[in-house]
Amino acid sequence: MRWTMFDLVIECRCLYEGRLQDLALCIIDGRIADILRTAPSESGSGEVHRIREGIVLPGIVDTHVHMRDPGLTSKEDFGTGTASAAFGGVTCVLDMPNTKPPTIDAASLQDKYEAASTKAHIDHGFYIAISDRTDVEMVTALLMDRRSAVRPAALKAFLGESTGSLRFGDTGALARWAPFLTGTGTVVAVHAEDEDQFATVRTPETDKGVLEWHARRRADVAEASSVRKALASLGPAANRLHILHISSAAGLAAAQGSKATIEVTPHHLFLDIDECKEGLEMEALCKVNPPIRGKDDKAALWRAVLDGRVRTIGSDHAPHLLAEKEEGARSPSGVPGVETMGPLVLKAVKDRRLPLERAVELLSMGPARRFSLSAKGGIRIGMDADLIEIDTSSERRIRAEDLHSRCGWTPYEGMRGIFPTRVYSRGELVVENDSLCSKGGRGRAIGY
Ligand code: DOR
Ligand code: ZN
Repeated sequence: MRWTMFDLVIECRCLYEGRLQDLALCIIDGRIADILRTAPSESGSGEVHRIREGIVLPGIVDTHVHMRDPGLTSKEDFGTGTASAAFGGVTCVLDMPNTKPPTIDAASLQDKYEAASTKAHIDHGFYIAISDRTDVEMVTALLMDRRSAVRPAALKAFLGESTGSLRFGDTGALARWAPFLTGTGTVVAVHAEDEDQFATVRTPETDKGVLEWHARRRADVAEASSVRKALASLGPAANRLHILHISSAAGLAAAQGSKATIEVTPHHLFLDIDECKEGLEMEALCKVNPPIRGKDDKAALWRAVLDGRVRTIGSDHAPHLLAEKEEGARSPSGVPGVETMGPLVLKAVKDRRLPLERAVELLSMGPARRFSLSAKGGIRIGMDADLIEIDTSSERRIRAEDLHSRCGWTPYEGMRGIFPTRVYSRGELVVENDSLCSKGGRGRAIGY
């Protein structure tokens, strides 16, 4: 292919076939058309980017974000949310359905698709929410409608109450979805907290004690119970189950030995109650479902990240406004995180807390494979040229004023992260040296 006119050649040290290698990534029409050991002659190629300092990794695939669009755009929209994602090295997101209106059918899916199509900077897909009353035939028709421009990327079931009112009240009713999941290969992602197991604990009047109260109320037993019920109701179809934001050793144990896959979030990996109480202006900032817990649970999650029990890291980017968080125990649950997830994990790699290949597996390849996003998550011929350049010497402190989410705050203020110096989406630079060089609307809905 040396004679081909490539649109762009990126000469770099990149993670390819499991190790760092010096290669030339040759891009045509946004895809990796060839990977060469020596760069093609310049006369035969288009633009050439020579990356000398850093390394190149696949773009991050964040399969768990709440971009709040449509309907909740004072918190975030597809423009600000996907810009924030891009600055953190995320090149593909799957957006959750608890918007206004909620994404539950063809019309609301279309609304969401339209909201994203004029604003998104990176590629994106959408979940639709199922409840115990959702019509399986309706969802089957949605998924199979080949003429439609818009189809759901996966299903989401809120097995416990959280932001929005999309409860799947009877976990046993998941059984109705087993033939659909097996037949179509669709993934059902669940928020696993069993409300029947929530404890009654006196609500604190002030912000002080909010995190302990929240963690005692929504204790680890509620997570474990919900996981066990979901596995029992799906039976063999549990291989299509993706358990979101596992937060506790008990939750991990409940999933042990099953074919379900597990996600953890950066907030459960990098924060614990003691640290939050010490470092945060307001405890309620880190009120999130499932709750931030103690050091032992955090350590258990790290062990599962390292030994392969965890399949994906997802940000659960859930922006709320500071004014809302001032409501203490009554404030909405959720923390922003799409921009800081990659930088925190890459800093952990630099600190030798996990190997680079494992980080890339958890951030990019694992999520892409789990959700059958075949063009995403890796550096291979035929895949989208979604790439990030990382310079490990460019570590810096995380500060809300440098981030791009509309919510304007971060639970990681003052912690250190490694932000990408360049981000390519389908061969186009979307971020370079802290500037956004993309126009909203260039991002595409995936898989249609
Ligand atoms: O804390 C949470 N916030 N957990 C969820 O499940 C939803 C999210 C949100 O959308 O705010
Ligand atoms: Zn979520």
